[in-house]
Amino acid sequence: MLNYKSLPKPFFVLAPMDDVTDTVFRTIVHQCRPADLYMTEFVNVDGLQSVGRPKLLSRLKKTNQETSLIAQIWGKDPENYYKTAKELVDGTFLHEIGSNTPFVGIDINMGCPDKQVVKNGCCSAFILPENRERAVEIIQAVKEGSGGKLPVSVKTRLGFNEVDLSWHELLLKQDIDMLTVHARTKKQMSKVPANWEYLAQIVALRDKGSPNTLIVGNGDVIDRAHGEELAKKYRVDGVMIGRGIFSDPYCFASSSPWQDMSPADKLQLLKKHVEMFDKTWQAGERKFDTLKKFTKIYVAEFDGAKELRQELMATKDTKELLDLIEKNYFLTVKPIFRR
Ligand SMILES: Cc1cc2nc3c(=O)[nH]c(=O)nc-3n(C[C@H](O)[C@H](O)[C@H](O)COP(=O)(O)O)c2cc1C
Repeated sequence: MLNYKSLPKPFFVLAPMDDVTDTVFRTIVHQCRPADLYMTEFVNVDGLQSVGRPKLLSRLKKTNQETSLIAQIWGKDPENYYKTAKELVDGTFLHEIGSNTPFVGIDINMGCPDKQVVKNGCCSAFILPENRERAVEIIQAVKEGSGGKLPVSVKTRLGFNEVDLSWHELLLKQDIDMLTVHARTKKQMSKVPANWEYLAQIVALRDKGSPNTLIVGNGDVIDRAHGEELAKKYRVDGVMIGRGIFSDPYCFASSSPWQDMSPADKLQLLKKHVEMFDKTWQAGERKFDTLKKFTKIYVAEFDGAKELRQELMATKDTKELLDLIEKNYFLTVKPIFRR
């Protein structure tokens, strides 16, 4: 079992992002420059414990090479959390997704601000005082289900409408292994800059009475150097990067080569992504449209990138997309002036 405490300080985590951080993109990022930990997209425990289970399994899919992957779960019913945690530990899910290397932890999503999810009393709704008793019950259910065989963590925000550190105090009392805090309230969505000042206060709360819980800061981090600076200033143990990966797939590098890579090299990486997507999601578990969105990462910051992106976005399937990448690859290997 991986003890998060054995990770370097600060350690770096690729943020879970729905429809983005599937097994394919995680593999691409890992091959560029690895993060220390990864999380799956959030997967609903109530759905997993229902007839809808087969459809949700793609969210847990992982390769055998993914050996630092945390399963992120959400939902309403403590019993379903318990069963899901148990099955994450005992190999049931691994068998169903065809992987023979274990998950390294279970993370509970208590931060998603999605309207529908909150209306249903889940994720960031657990921050509300009236739902906290259930939140505690859920954490205990996951701990019981995992039977001490996997670390249990929570990812949350600074508060619901206002910053409310009594929420983090309560979470820290549950003796969890890791607490990730996205430095905004639910109300702020992602519309205002992240406020890392509060992370220092959460670290101080941890120091007071919960020495076993590692604190991870999240929000607006662009790359490793930036994350290291914030970790030093606010004393967090780890740093999570989400959207920073869109501007630089090598953002976990000490010194990223991305700005100096040629358009042809970037297209090669896109080609690799498309081919891996095609191979992984042969049964159509993922929509082609979710793949096309990635072009804005790879086809950017060179002359003609916008026009090429528009052409790529107009393709109808992976074959058409790959043909167009191939054609443009040969065009871009010629010397080209970068902006
Ligand atoms: C497209 C997208 C999907 C997301 N999906 C999830 C998710 O499944 N689980 C989760 O805990 N957070 C999710 N988040 C929030 C991110 O994990 C992260 O907390 C947030 O983007 C702030 O970090 P950043 O400023 O580094 O992007 C998502 C964010 C984005 C942009």
